[in-house]
Amino acid sequence: MKVGVLGSGDVARSLAAGFLKHGHAVTVGTRDRTKPAGWAAKHVGAQVGSFAEAANFGELVVLAVKGAVALDVLRAAGAANLAGKPIIDATNPIADASPASGVLKFFTTLDESLMERLQREFPAAHFVKPFNSVGHLFMVNPQFPDGPPTLFICGNDDVAKQTVRGVLDQFGWETADMGTVEAARAIEPLCMLWCIPGFLRNQWSHAFKLLRRE
Ligand SMILES: NC(=O)c1ccc[n+]([C@@H]2O[C@H](COP(=O)([O-])OP(=O)(O)OC[C@H]3O[C@@H](n4cnc5c(N)ncnc54)[C@H](OP(=O)(O)O)[C@@H]3O)[C@@H](O)[C@H]2O)c1
Repeated sequence: MKVGVLGSGDVARSLAAGFLKHGHAVTVGTRDRTKPAGWAAKHVGAQVGSFAEAANFGELVVLAVKGAVALDVLRAAGAANLAGKPIIDATNPIADASPASGVLKFFTTLDESLMERLQREFPAAHFVKPFNSVGHLFMVNPQFPDGPPTLFICGNDDVAKQTVRGVLDQFGWETADMGTVEAARAIEPLCMLWCIPGFLRNQWSHAFKLLRRE
């Protein structure tokens, strides 16, 4: 697949490297092409462009920017470059305020997630939410003694979710589909839960797993 990654931070670089490792073509989108230039030089096949160029390039688009600017970045990417495509939304609506007792603050409420805001403004794009509740170092083929961990996903478009499920299979995850975009109200706060051991005890090496009885 051709993958357009919006963002050039830790998550964007980890996911872009994962797509390259699994044989996909990647363009990383940024405001400042000099920022990921050194990274791109070390990753054969990685290209760098503007947000619009990366979105236009991708058959699959990855949104990996600061949550507070997610809408601005999508506007810069351009609605026409997103329409009809699966959009992996890795963002979290983290507020600028400091965590309280290890619990992050969000700028959203439990009645409206960030992904719902994105989906509402870009109705022709097919947002799917994985990756928000694990650290970037574990996003691609994580190795844990108890086997593959679980990523919870949600989104309105079944074909887009099928595409994302295929990516998660390649990236070594179990997928748990939690339904439509509204489920992001529950999935986004998993980021708060994931970060608590980090803020309280400097423990950042874990992932969630859903246990089932068939
Ligand atoms: N770090 C993790 O381990 C982790 C794990 C799960 C989820 N997440 C979520 O994934 C997203 C990315 O996280 P991150 O840690 O990689 O980096 P980040 O610092 O949250 O975001 C960096 C990206 O945001 C863009 N950005 C920042 N301010 C901007 C502005 N005013 N206008 C346009 N773009 C702007 C930057 O674009 P430029 O390239 O143009 O500078 C950069 O690519 C966040 O929503 C975060 O909550 C992070």
